Parts: sequence; structure tokens; C-alpha cells
Amino acid sequence: MDIFDFEKWIFNNFNIDLSAYKSNQLHRRINSLMSRVGAKNLQEYTYMLAEDKEQKQKFLDFITINVTEFFRNPELFDELRKKIKEELLVKNNSLKVWSAACSTGAEPYSLAMILDELAPLGRHKIIATDIDSTILSRAKLGEYQESEVKNIKDEYLNKYFKKQNNNYIVDYKLKSMINFIKHDLILDDYNKGLDLIVCRNVVIYFNTDVKNKIYKRFYDSLKPGGLLFVGATESIYNYKEFGFEKSSTFIYRKA
Ligand SMILES: C[S@@+](CC[C@H](N)C(=O)[O-])C[C@H]1O[C@@H](n2cnc3c(N)ncnc32)[C@H](O)[C@@H]1O
Repeated sequence: MDIFDFEKWIFNNFNIDLSAYKSNQLHRRINSLMSRVGAKNLQEYTYMLAEDKEQKQKFLDFITINVTEFFRNPELFDELRKKIKEELLVKNNSLKVWSAACSTGAEPYSLAMILDELAPLGRHKIIATDIDSTILSRAKLGEYQESEVKNIKDEYLNKYFKKQNNNYIVDYKLKSMINFIKHDLILDDYNKGLDLIVCRNVVIYFNTDVKNKIYKRFYDSLKPGGLLFVGATESIYNYKEFGFEKSSTFIYRKA
């Protein structure tokens, strides 16, 4: 079995399109995971994945890379807050937002805190999606350890979280603003009529063709004047190709 057969096998069995990911990086990662779990070759590895649920979950976790933080890159979130206030909320007091590839929920809950603070009377709707259903269950639960909430200002922690033992639990108001849904950025349909799309630290794993398709689809999903907020290493050089204008280094506006 070669790597292409392996990718086909993964697609047929787990419905994940590995051909969308940057191949060198992906193959290196698969090799290192295989040696870690003691699989001698790809064929043997597929047997392990088919038979052992734990191996399957390990593989999915490894491929999907769930690292996240509340207000990841706080200075960029400050910039986003300013744009939300000055560009989006002046037109509409209730915003429709998509946090795409939201991992454990730190990102959509950060957005919910900002929206609730800036426009508490708005009926905001945040759609938070990820390909990984295990991580989405954690996100829905909204329970975080002390080390995970270190970026959150005390003012927000006191207002939006309840401390239980050593954990911090997100309050009902924030939870009620967010709809967590399983969604694959490569294979699934996109929502329309959005004011803001936040998609950070996931397209870096995709090859250029796939990345460009995703930006084009984000453009189609936004309302005119809507904003796309990307990760701190993901500035889009060819943004004009898709019809975006630059609002700041990591924020793009649908013209
Ligand atoms: C590094 S985390 C980024 C989390 C968050 N956006 C942030 O910046 O902190 C990447 C997330 O992308 C998700 N992911 C990977 N491939 C995906 C795909 N094809 N569609 C949707 N989500 C995907 C992973 O499950 C993971 O939770």
C-alpha cells in the first residue's frame, strides 16, 4: 500500500480528505505517528486503525491538531474588537458569526464575550464548527482548567464563568449564543449571509489549491462589508483575487 492508497482508505473509512493537506508535512506526521504506535507499514497501520477505536481516535487527534487558546494573539483580538464595533455593529446590532475550526471552543466563547460586551442587547448568533466531534463535545460542555483560562481578563472571568472545584464553567448566556456543529471545511457546504468569519490556524495545514478554494467560499459566505479574521501566520497575499480588501494585516473585508 502506498501513501495514495492510504489516503483513499482514510477517505473511504473515515471520510477525511487527506489530499487537501500539505503533503510533505502530512506524510512526515503520519510516519512519526506510525513509528510511535509501532506500525511497520501503511497496510499494517490501516489494520490497526480499523480494529482499534483508540488508535483511530489517536490518528484523528494527531491529524486535526487541536491546540487553541482564548483570545489567541490578544493584540489581534483587540484589533478585531475595534473593527466589530466600528464597522459591523454600526450597521447591525445583531451579528451572525462563524468560528470555523473552533477546536475546544475557546475561540467562539472569546467572540461571544466580545459581542456581549459591545452589544449586550443584540441577538447574536455564533456558529462554531469543527471536523472533530470529540473536541466539539468538549466545546459544548464549556468547562476549562485554570491553565486554559489564563488569557481571560479577570473582569470577563468573573462575569462569564463560574468556578467549580478547579474548573471554570462558561455561563448560560454565552453558551446560548453559540451553536456547535460538526463541519468539514473541505467537504461540506458553507453558511451564507455572515457578518464575520473567524478561521484561524487551520488553513496552514492545507495545500494552496484547497486554501484558495476555502477563501473563495468564505467570500461567498460573507455579506458585503463582512469581515474575515485569519491566524497570525496566515495573512492572505492574494486577497484581491477573491474580491477582498485589506482591513488590517489579519482582517479582510468583502468589498
Ligand atoms: C490548531 S486548531 C485551531 C483552533 C482555533 N481556530 C484557534 O486558532 O485557536 C485546528 C482545528 O482545525 C480542525 N480541523 C482540521 N481539519 C479540518 C477540516 N478539514 N475542517 C474543519 N476543521 C478542521 C481541527 O480539528 C482543530 O480543532
